[in-house]
Amino acid sequence: MNDIWSSKLQGINTLEISRELRFRDDRKDLILYILGLKKGMTIAEIGCGTGSLARKLAYWLGNETKITGVDRDTNFIEFAAEKAKIKKLSNLTFIEGDALRIPFPDYSFDASISHTLIEHVPNKEFLIEQKRICRDGGRVSVMITIGNKTITSSPSEIPFQTEREIELMKPFIPYFEDADKLYLKKYWSGYDGLPRIFDSLGYKDIQVDSISLPVVVDDSRNNIETKKLIVEEQQRSSYLDKIEMGVGMMKNKLPDSHINELKKLIDDRFNKRWNLVLENKKIWDYKISTVLIVSGVK
Ligand SMILES: C[S@@+](CC[C@H](N)C(=O)[O-])C[C@H]1O[C@@H](n2cnc3c(N)ncnc32)[C@H](O)[C@@H]1O
Repeated sequence: MNDIWSSKLQGINTLEISRELRFRDDRKDLILYILGLKKGMTIAEIGCGTGSLARKLAYWLGNETKITGVDRDTNFIEFAAEKAKIKKLSNLTFIEGDALRIPFPDYSFDASISHTLIEHVPNKEFLIEQKRICRDGGRVSVMITIGNKTITSSPSEIPFQTEREIELMKPFIPYFEDADKLYLKKYWSGYDGLPRIFDSLGYKDIQVDSISLPVVVDDSRNNIETKKLIVEEQQRSSYLDKIEMGVGMMKNKLPDSHINELKKLIDDRFNKRWNLVLENKKIWDYKISTVLIVSGVK
């Protein structure tokens, strides 16, 4: 049983909803084109988390395409498998496994992809392993979010954290920092370094691409359910998830009154943001993540 990621870094809810919002259906053609994915392929997604991208691919590419998600976090894999079953996606399988020892024989897939995994595993070893599981002519793509290339707007109307909320958060911070230090391994080969590794490993037809993934509450294409998903589910629940994780990691339990007050302040903050949506007041707070994609052919 491995639950490091889901219990210490990003909870199921936080990861799942953030990705549902990133991989929007109107980005389908661009994403499939860049990753070189087509109907009928066998595709592996390594470090698939809760399976949101794999699920999108299963919908987009249909039944004749077989998609397998691999992740070492047991909670994510169980969640992803259950969701695929509920959605009756029979072309989608999830399996627990390590990115450096992918539990499949050589030449198993037409394509192997990963999203925000390569920065957490030794790059060269991972690219060797991805190449191993692909057939000759198969495509390997890695997607990585570049933190300092994020566009974030910060309008003054955003209900910001109060000083009291910041104060109540303080006891959690060392635990979050320790978890990040212990488990968030940063293997960044550099903008030119990553394609160079592909080159050094004998990949052909190497491509460097990028996709921007905006999440904008006030965008006119969002219906009320999507707005709700962003404010209520993604933003609010990422804070509440973090609190639950912090509580789980703490050696000395905080009094319930501390935790309840903190949760209430977080709730109040996001209630205010949600009320702006209900009042149809647009404040244009948003985040655009830039994803770098490097791919090559075996
Ligand atoms: C930032 S999350 C991304 C998850 C998913 N790709 C997404 O974008 O929603 C990183 C994922 O990589 C997984 N992971 C980290 N190291 C791994 C390894 N060595 N083998 C398999 N999975 C790993 C974690 O469990 C986590 O699900």
